[in-house]
Amino acid sequence: RAMAILKEFEDKCGTPIGKLRQVADAMTVEMHAGLASEGGSKLKMLISYVDNLPTGNEQGLFYALDLGGTNFRVLRVQLGGKEKGVVSQEFEEVSIPPYLMIGSSEALFNYIAEALAKFVATESEGSHPYPGRQRELGFTFSFPVRQVSISSGTLIKWTKGFSIEDAVGEDVVGELTKAMEKIGLHMRVTALVNDTIGTLAGGRFYNSDVIAAVILGTGTNAAYVERAQAIPKWHGPLPKSGEMVINMEWGNFRSSHLPLTEYDQALDSESLNPGEQIFEKTISGMYLGEVVRRVLLKMAEEASFFGDNVPPKLRISFILRTPDMSAMHHDTSSDLKVVGNKLRDILEISNTTLKMRKVVVELCDIVATRGARLSAAGIVGILKKLGRDSAKEGAEQQKSVIALDGGLFEHYKKFSACMESTLKELIGEEVAQNIVIEHSNDGSGIGAALLAASHSEYLMAEE
Ligand code: BG6
Ligand code: GLC
Repeated sequence: RAMAILKEFEDKCGTPIGKLRQVADAMTVEMHAGLASEGGSKLKMLISYVDNLPTGNEQGLFYALDLGGTNFRVLRVQLGGKEKGVVSQEFEEVSIPPYLMIGSSEALFNYIAEALAKFVATESEGSHPYPGRQRELGFTFSFPVRQVSISSGTLIKWTKGFSIEDAVGEDVVGELTKAMEKIGLHMRVTALVNDTIGTLAGGRFYNSDVIAAVILGTGTNAAYVERAQAIPKWHGPLPKSGEMVINMEWGNFRSSHLPLTEYDQALDSESLNPGEQIFEKTISGMYLGEVVRRVLLKMAEEASFFGDNVPPKLRISFILRTPDMSAMHHDTSSDLKVVGNKLRDILEISNTTLKMRKVVVELCDIVATRGARLSAAGIVGILKKLGRDSAKEGAEQQKSVIALDGGLFEHYKKFSACMESTLKELIGEEVAQNIVIEHSNDGSGIGAALLAASHSEYLMAEE
């Protein structure tokens, strides 16, 4: 009976190549729709106001704040221009206490401002090249924001584990600035960016072939460089570069072609944001372990998989985290010791047999494979939109580099390997030679600092 549940789940999670192509096509179609008009698609295709990516000429001391991943980060970056590049970078990681993620806007921003103030206080004397100037800051805020300019925008909605009602619709830079002023920290936010945009900017700084960025972490999302003329909903002046970076918010993509199961539906309806972020809920780190838990619970309830009693811990939502799932999935010991230990330590299920452990590994594999293959299909959707998914006859092939970041991509090796091999499978060996997936480790923090530098108020005044 337990095997029947597993088998049925596996069938429903299937991602044969034909289905993935449908998903990729649907992604391309939705991209067009989202660019055509506001509200034209589940894909918001947000205009970032970044129409120039870093050139390498950026200079000076800049700060960055990075909120929205597993950890909140503050960074200080010394940029030395073309010759010297990034001269130094320091950062500190602070975790956000869970109660702040669902509290009030004021409490969250106060906490962030205080962490920033502490970090600024550690700046060594004389390292600021222009002592009289206000310090400038790039703010990576990894949630959907409707930008009004490069340095301001209102929160559309929260995603991932955050839900702070009174911040929705507010100007997040205004909120941060208020909190900073309250404690006498006079800094100016000159760039407000999504983590995908930061990662794209950071990636471009090191490699001029970077055309898109994808985050596979707690959440998932992508950004890419679009031709400004291909954005019908953009009514502003045409940028000199002719380009505009788009934050897709692909986590909210959905399509009838997505292989969804009863477990995904239940996970969604019991989540902080029912009906939203369906693509994200099948792919990203916040949810993969939770899907596994739900299937195990069903096997325990309906097939006594763990014996006569249902292990009580198995009923606790989000108790099985994706890093633990990953550890089980990567267990290479012959008796699957890691799996046994995780089941015992996290779920208080002891005396598991090798057969049971194998089923657990199989389950992890099904869930991770589906997520990885769908994320590859998403990337192919972007390549299609840019006309870079197939070989052009006679033309010299351009390189397309995609900057990837996020804990899931970085640490869940079977996931990233499967994502990359699926990408090859979808576009074929020949085209794949020109598509490069590049890990951009914490590119987003540096990227935000770089964008803060290229949008510095002082630079603008000098121009
Ligand atoms: C980091 C970026 O490297 O990746 C963050 O700097 C981003 O801005 C994060 O949110 C996503 O990863 P995770 O796994 O922490 O959600
Ligand atoms: C969520 C956010 C998005 C972010 C992504 C990755 O999908 O809505 O803005 O880029 O997570 O952190």
